[in-house]
Amino acid sequence: MFLKRKKVRALAGEVDYSRLPRHIALIMDGNGRWAKKRGLPRKAGHAMGAETFRRIALYCKEIGLEYFTVYAFSTENWKRPADEVNAIMGLLEKYLLEAIEKMEKEQMKLHIFGDLTPLSPRLKELCARTEEIAKTVNGLQVNLCLNYGGRDEILHGVKTFAEACQRGETTPDALTETLFSQYLYSKDVPDPDLIIRPSGEIRISNFLLWQGAYAEYYFTDVLWPDFDKEELNRAIVSYQHRSRRFGGIGGV
Ligand code: FPP
Repeated sequence: MFLKRKKVRALAGEVDYSRLPRHIALIMDGNGRWAKKRGLPRKAGHAMGAETFRRIALYCKEIGLEYFTVYAFSTENWKRPADEVNAIMGLLEKYLLEAIEKMEKEQMKLHIFGDLTPLSPRLKELCARTEEIAKTVNGLQVNLCLNYGGRDEILHGVKTFAEACQRGETTPDALTETLFSQYLYSKDVPDPDLIIRPSGEIRISNFLLWQGAYAEYYFTDVLWPDFDKEELNRAIVSYQHRSRRFGGIGGV
């Protein structure tokens, strides 16, 4: 009886909080267009995008989501003008400082996925401090993809695995999907159930290529700075209406 009522609510367009996805991942796209529409510099769009990220992450915590992963800076984003790259790095530094200060109090832990090698020493140090504090915190896990690329992540995983083989710690015969997952930045994080891309682009742009194999995708025309909790709810309701079969035929 209880379950039936919950299902009806979901069909009516409401989120069924008893069946939330465990892990939502999101491409924060559309900041530049949002700024252009208002005659503002692109970096103003990123600043607004960073605010939207804070609000949505907080909402994810409120509803009890376990994992929220966002694409903050890709391995290809270095091609942008230096002024824009510096503005994004500045926003990231500000957020990392906030996270270091508030993570324990807010019970929200931050992890970084990506190759941190080309980041400034300051950002590297903040990422290291963040990872250290995260070890002691429970609650929503936010994964910030920073200098992240899905192909780069897979190559990095292959190289690390090959090195482990050379050291005699493992063998190619031992390699399974589960073992390989442990060589990725997302080690120990379950695959995303739902991947959202705002801004009207219908592509995945090198985001979570391995992990997204069986994810449900949700695309919306809303630009990221305008994305709000109602839009997230719409994505979750859409997810809750899908039948996930993971290559099987379902219902068995
Ligand atoms: C894509 O939009 C967005 C980015 C490349 C950067 C995203 C970065 C932030 C939101 C700020 C830093 C993040 C945090 C978590 C503090 P776009 O510029 O490609 O948009 P467009 O397609 O409209 O040009």
